[in-house]
Amino acid sequence: MRLSEPAAAAAAPALAVEERASLRAFNTFGLPALARTLVRIGSAADVRRVVDHPAFGRAAKFILGGGSNVVLTRDVDAVVLKVEILGRRVVEERADAVVVEAGAGENWHDFVAWTLAQGHPGLENLALIPGTVGAAPVQNIGAYGVELKDRFESLDAVDLVTGRAVTLDARACRFGYRDSAFKHSGFGGLAGKSLITHVRFRLPRPWAPVLGYLELERKVAEAGNTSPDARTVFDWVSAIRCAKLPDPRAIGNAGSFFKNPVVSAEQCRDIIGRDPEIVHYPLPDGTVKLAAGWLIDACGWKGKTVGRAGVYEKHSLVLVNRGGAHGSEVVTLARAIQESVYGRFGIRLEPEPVIV
Ligand code: EPU
Repeated sequence: MRLSEPAAAAAAPALAVEERASLRAFNTFGLPALARTLVRIGSAADVRRVVDHPAFGRAAKFILGGGSNVVLTRDVDAVVLKVEILGRRVVEERADAVVVEAGAGENWHDFVAWTLAQGHPGLENLALIPGTVGAAPVQNIGAYGVELKDRFESLDAVDLVTGRAVTLDARACRFGYRDSAFKHSGFGGLAGKSLITHVRFRLPRPWAPVLGYLELERKVAEAGNTSPDARTVFDWVSAIRCAKLPDPRAIGNAGSFFKNPVVSAEQCRDIIGRDPEIVHYPLPDGTVKLAAGWLIDACGWKGKTVGRAGVYEKHSLVLVNRGGAHGSEVVTLARAIQESVYGRFGIRLEPEPVIV
């Protein structure tokens, strides 16, 4: 339904607004929740119309991309801005890099496939990550040895208070492990304050495959191919993911539910003393990243079900909707897992998705 806008904006196209909109199809967990008001955002101009709107302008806002990183436990009172900005283009071809751009509402995996079809490799390790292009920098998505920040050029966003358009570089986005300024609301944080409209990626030339991740090394050995092209890496990553991560279209989930915790070398030695098998990765700064999936597995959670939420059979870091789950059931399961991991290892697991 398209509601008419106030007289002052009569000449501008109307905003696409829905009242009491179901969000079930808009979150990959498939959790039931209603948005009191949902506004579909098709352009930066739509964001400015929201900012100038007499009712929505001052209201609290909730930005929804592909819904792949959110656990909805209740109806949403804030005005939900559903980002549907489309468009993909090659911005610039330089000797040292190709810069490509996509609208925030584009599907991430389709965009990765498109870049390869254009002959511009560089994002193939990030194949099949659920969600949208606009959500990718929020999370600083990463997989199989590549993080978004390694390929990031800049992004455009619109300030949700002033309606002003800004372009932000990597520094301003403050990328960290599954983290950015868009996940923080304190000083310098941009959560709920700024809506990403377009993202640009710098794909370095000459291209070289990134094959350092253990499972990709295995594929290299299996195939006897030490110099695969980007399409082959894309296919390998897709096969690895399909073998152990559930397809959200078939089983509701939000990918890894917890971040891999980082501990001090001393803490890690202590745990290794008790559990020599623990999967861990030393980091350059002397700290150690632990495989959260292993910790959860060690506590016996793999394949378990609590209410209508469960721990995926093939990967303990992924919580799933067994069918008809409410967000509160997912949160109850997540808390129980956190408690048992803390009880056994003294480590607090931090959820990756935003819990609403
Ligand atoms: N493991 C277990 N039991 C399990 C699951 C994993 O023992 O049930 C062990 C595995 O044996 C492996 C280790 O944990 O040695 C790491 O597992 P995996 O390679 O699957 O990676 P991960 O650390 O669990 C991270 C990302 C994924 C990303 C993969 C590949 C986080 C929180 N998750 O998972 O990202 O695809 O690496 O790079 O960093 C996501 O963020 O949603 C996501 C799927």
